Amino acid sequence: MNCLSTPSTSAFLPRQTQGFSLGTFKLWKKESRCIRKAGRIKITAKFELKPPPYPLNGLEPIMSQETLEYHWGKHHRTYVDNLNRQIDGTDLDEKSLENVVVISYNKGDFLPAFNNAAQAWNHDFFWESMKPGGGGKPSGDLLKLIKRDFGSFENFLDEFKTTASTQFGSGWTWLAYKESKLDVGNAVNPLPSDEDKKLVVVKTPNAVNPLVWNYYHPLLTIDVWEHAYYIDFQNQRSDYISVFMDKLVSWDSVSSRLEQAKARIVEREKEAERNKRDEQKPRSSEGIPEIYPDSDADLGADE
Ligand SMILES: [Fe+2]
Repeated sequence: MNCLSTPSTSAFLPRQTQGFSLGTFKLWKKESRCIRKAGRIKITAKFELKPPPYPLNGLEPIMSQETLEYHWGKHHRTYVDNLNRQIDGTDLDEKSLENVVVISYNKGDFLPAFNNAAQAWNHDFFWESMKPGGGGKPSGDLLKLIKRDFGSFENFLDEFKTTASTQFGSGWTWLAYKESKLDVGNAVNPLPSDEDKKLVVVKTPNAVNPLVWNYYHPLLTIDVWEHAYYIDFQNQRSDYISVFMDKLVSWDSVSSRLEQAKARIVEREKEAERNKRDEQKPRSSEGIPEIYPDSDADLGADE
């Protein structure tokens, strides 16, 4: 990394954390800088507040510019600013936001950075879950899977809306693609008996998101913290949830996330298969002769 410049990274990069493969996720822009500590150069990185993929008035009249100015411009910004302060100079500095979320979740025994890291990630995901002129009905594979796993699109809508409206206090509701059974330390297991590779609706309290459960791939989320809807809907959370589903959801984003999730699952399955084959291979000391060059001539040297 060139310490004289301030490069930004917004790429799709593979990551691996504590045996937790997050595959490829869109990472936040980070502004890097160099500081000198005890005679050594240390590179630190700062998460930047990423704007929604539309103007702040782009969701009007469903979601007002004023809501976006407070929700994105103040609440979301505060999570990012607090996170940068919390991780500055720690081992979490220079890690991707997704990795900071998973590491600081710490199997349910949160490290101090968890709430701000997860809220920063959740809000980014939330803004990209909506679009001007959204809503309606999905199509293609996504609709097929919704019909397979919920019976009908209408059943899915009912389940999502009910789940979001019954979240006690602050939190989030998600549509996720569940890759396999949950197995995470002391975390609460939301759906332990479900089959693998299916769509599920789950709710999470406060800042928690499905990334921390491993093998859950989030596809869609709605923020049901009161700050998300109070300006436009006062205390009528169910009205907010209804218009979110009917007029704001970007099914294009959800479909694209589903395709990415499937691709990641295929990658993980191939990797698991490769690892299995490698384990079954005889070791070099078990029959395959090892060949070592015994002179310079074997190395092609002629001097
Ligand atoms: Fe929020």
